[in-house]
Amino acid sequence: MIEVQKNTTNSDNSNTEEKELLLKVKDLKTYFYTEEGVVKAVDGVSFTINKNEILGLVGETGCGKSVTALSLLRLVRSPGKIISGQIEFEGINLIDLPENQMLHYRGNTITMIFQDPMNSLNPVMKVGDQLAEVYLLHQKEYLKEELAKARQENSILKEKLKQMKSDLKNASEEGAETLKVQINALKRKVKGRITLKDIAYRESSQLLDRIGLPNADSLINRYPHELSGGMRQRIMIAMGLACNSKLLICDEPTTALDVTIQAQILDMIRELKNRLHNSVLFITHSLGVIFELCDRVAVMYSGNIVEYGTVEDIFENPQHPYTKGLLAAIPKVTPESRKNKLAIIKGMVPNLIYPPSGCRFHPRCPHAMKVCQEIRPDLIPLNNAVQVACHLYDKDKSDPDLYRPLTNEERLEATI
Ligand SMILES: Nc1ncnc2c1ncn2[C@@H]1O[C@H](COP(=O)(O)OP(=O)(O)OP(=O)(O)O)[C@@H](O)[C@H]1O
Ligand code: SF4
Ligand SMILES: [Mg+2]
Repeated sequence: MIEVQKNTTNSDNSNTEEKELLLKVKDLKTYFYTEEGVVKAVDGVSFTINKNEILGLVGETGCGKSVTALSLLRLVRSPGKIISGQIEFEGINLIDLPENQMLHYRGNTITMIFQDPMNSLNPVMKVGDQLAEVYLLHQKEYLKEELAKARQENSILKEKLKQMKSDLKNASEEGAETLKVQINALKRKVKGRITLKDIAYRESSQLLDRIGLPNADSLINRYPHELSGGMRQRIMIAMGLACNSKLLICDEPTTALDVTIQAQILDMIRELKNRLHNSVLFITHSLGVIFELCDRVAVMYSGNIVEYGTVEDIFENPQHPYTKGLLAAIPKVTPESRKNKLAIIKGMVPNLIYPPSGCRFHPRCPHAMKVCQEIRPDLIPLNNAVQVACHLYDKDKSDPDLYRPLTNEERLEATI
């Protein structure tokens, strides 16, 4: 459908590379028990993430992306509850872990950059203190190495300064003037005792610089409420990146940012993955971002994954009617496209308290059949690279009544 020219030069993932499993989610169900009824927000979601891989999770608003991510860290709050399923991280089922062991995974092993930056930053702590704390907690060994290097460089500078001062005593009048200038310049570089905290601040300031926040040295002395929404979002991203965890979950981290900053952040996430060989679950509404950044993509609709596979396969040859609709709805920037109406997926996202029977997409699907109303389709492999949950791909379609298109009356009934 779309000509695929994805730039894979930044990615060291190749098809021939042996994939090592990091996370396996199986039949995960998370419901909210509200006064209006049970919201089946995540209703049987299964996917895997390999080491050194970026998996994109895409879908319309309210389809369960954030609840899926929160479930992975067991951070769903009441009235929400994980009902069933498995979340195996490096072979350990996180669902079974006692809370004190789960604490070890949060932040250390799995980090999440939340969708709402204001609620995720500490309002009474300066930005620099919050970032430095993350470094001190999660990258202590790295900081120690950097501290040793910094102290060594500093002692070399101190020796040089000592030598210059001694040279000054014997220097000619002209030479002394030049030496004094050099000594003053060097004095500004030489530091007193460097501590681990100094290195944590230095790293924090450099990271802010790298995610496009200018004047990082002054920013680290400000409180979150003194920053704009976009700045706070980038601080959250910086904190997530500073954790250096095996799995980074990014929940719509760039939605509030302009495209140039967004591109810088996507580059950083990709660079981080390539350098540290960690994995990322990237949640977004934007198929463009998925295409640029991810290795594989899971398309979610109304609490279920409906299509799942490599980015190349799904963008080039989508199989599920919902994925086809999403891709067709991407605006194209051509003179012809100005004359045409934008393609849309007709109908509304379903109410998750009373979801449609069978395939939850059937009230909106142009190919809906009788079977779609009655039986929920399982996610089945079409080939090595793609899985799809849709009755169009059922092997046995011998029952003509089940596989007939819905009548107009039936369709109307489904949409009410
Ligand atoms: N605390 C809650 N109580 C009741 N329902 C909830 C709660 N939190 C989430 N939900 C419901 O769960 C469903 C999935 O929500 P979720 O936040 O995962 O959607 P999303 O795909 O992340 O949407 P968006 O793209 O807008 O962020 C929604 O229908 C939402 O109303
Ligand atoms: S299962 Fe049926 S309703 Fe659902 S997407 Fe496939 S054809 Fe459409
Ligand atoms: Mg969300």
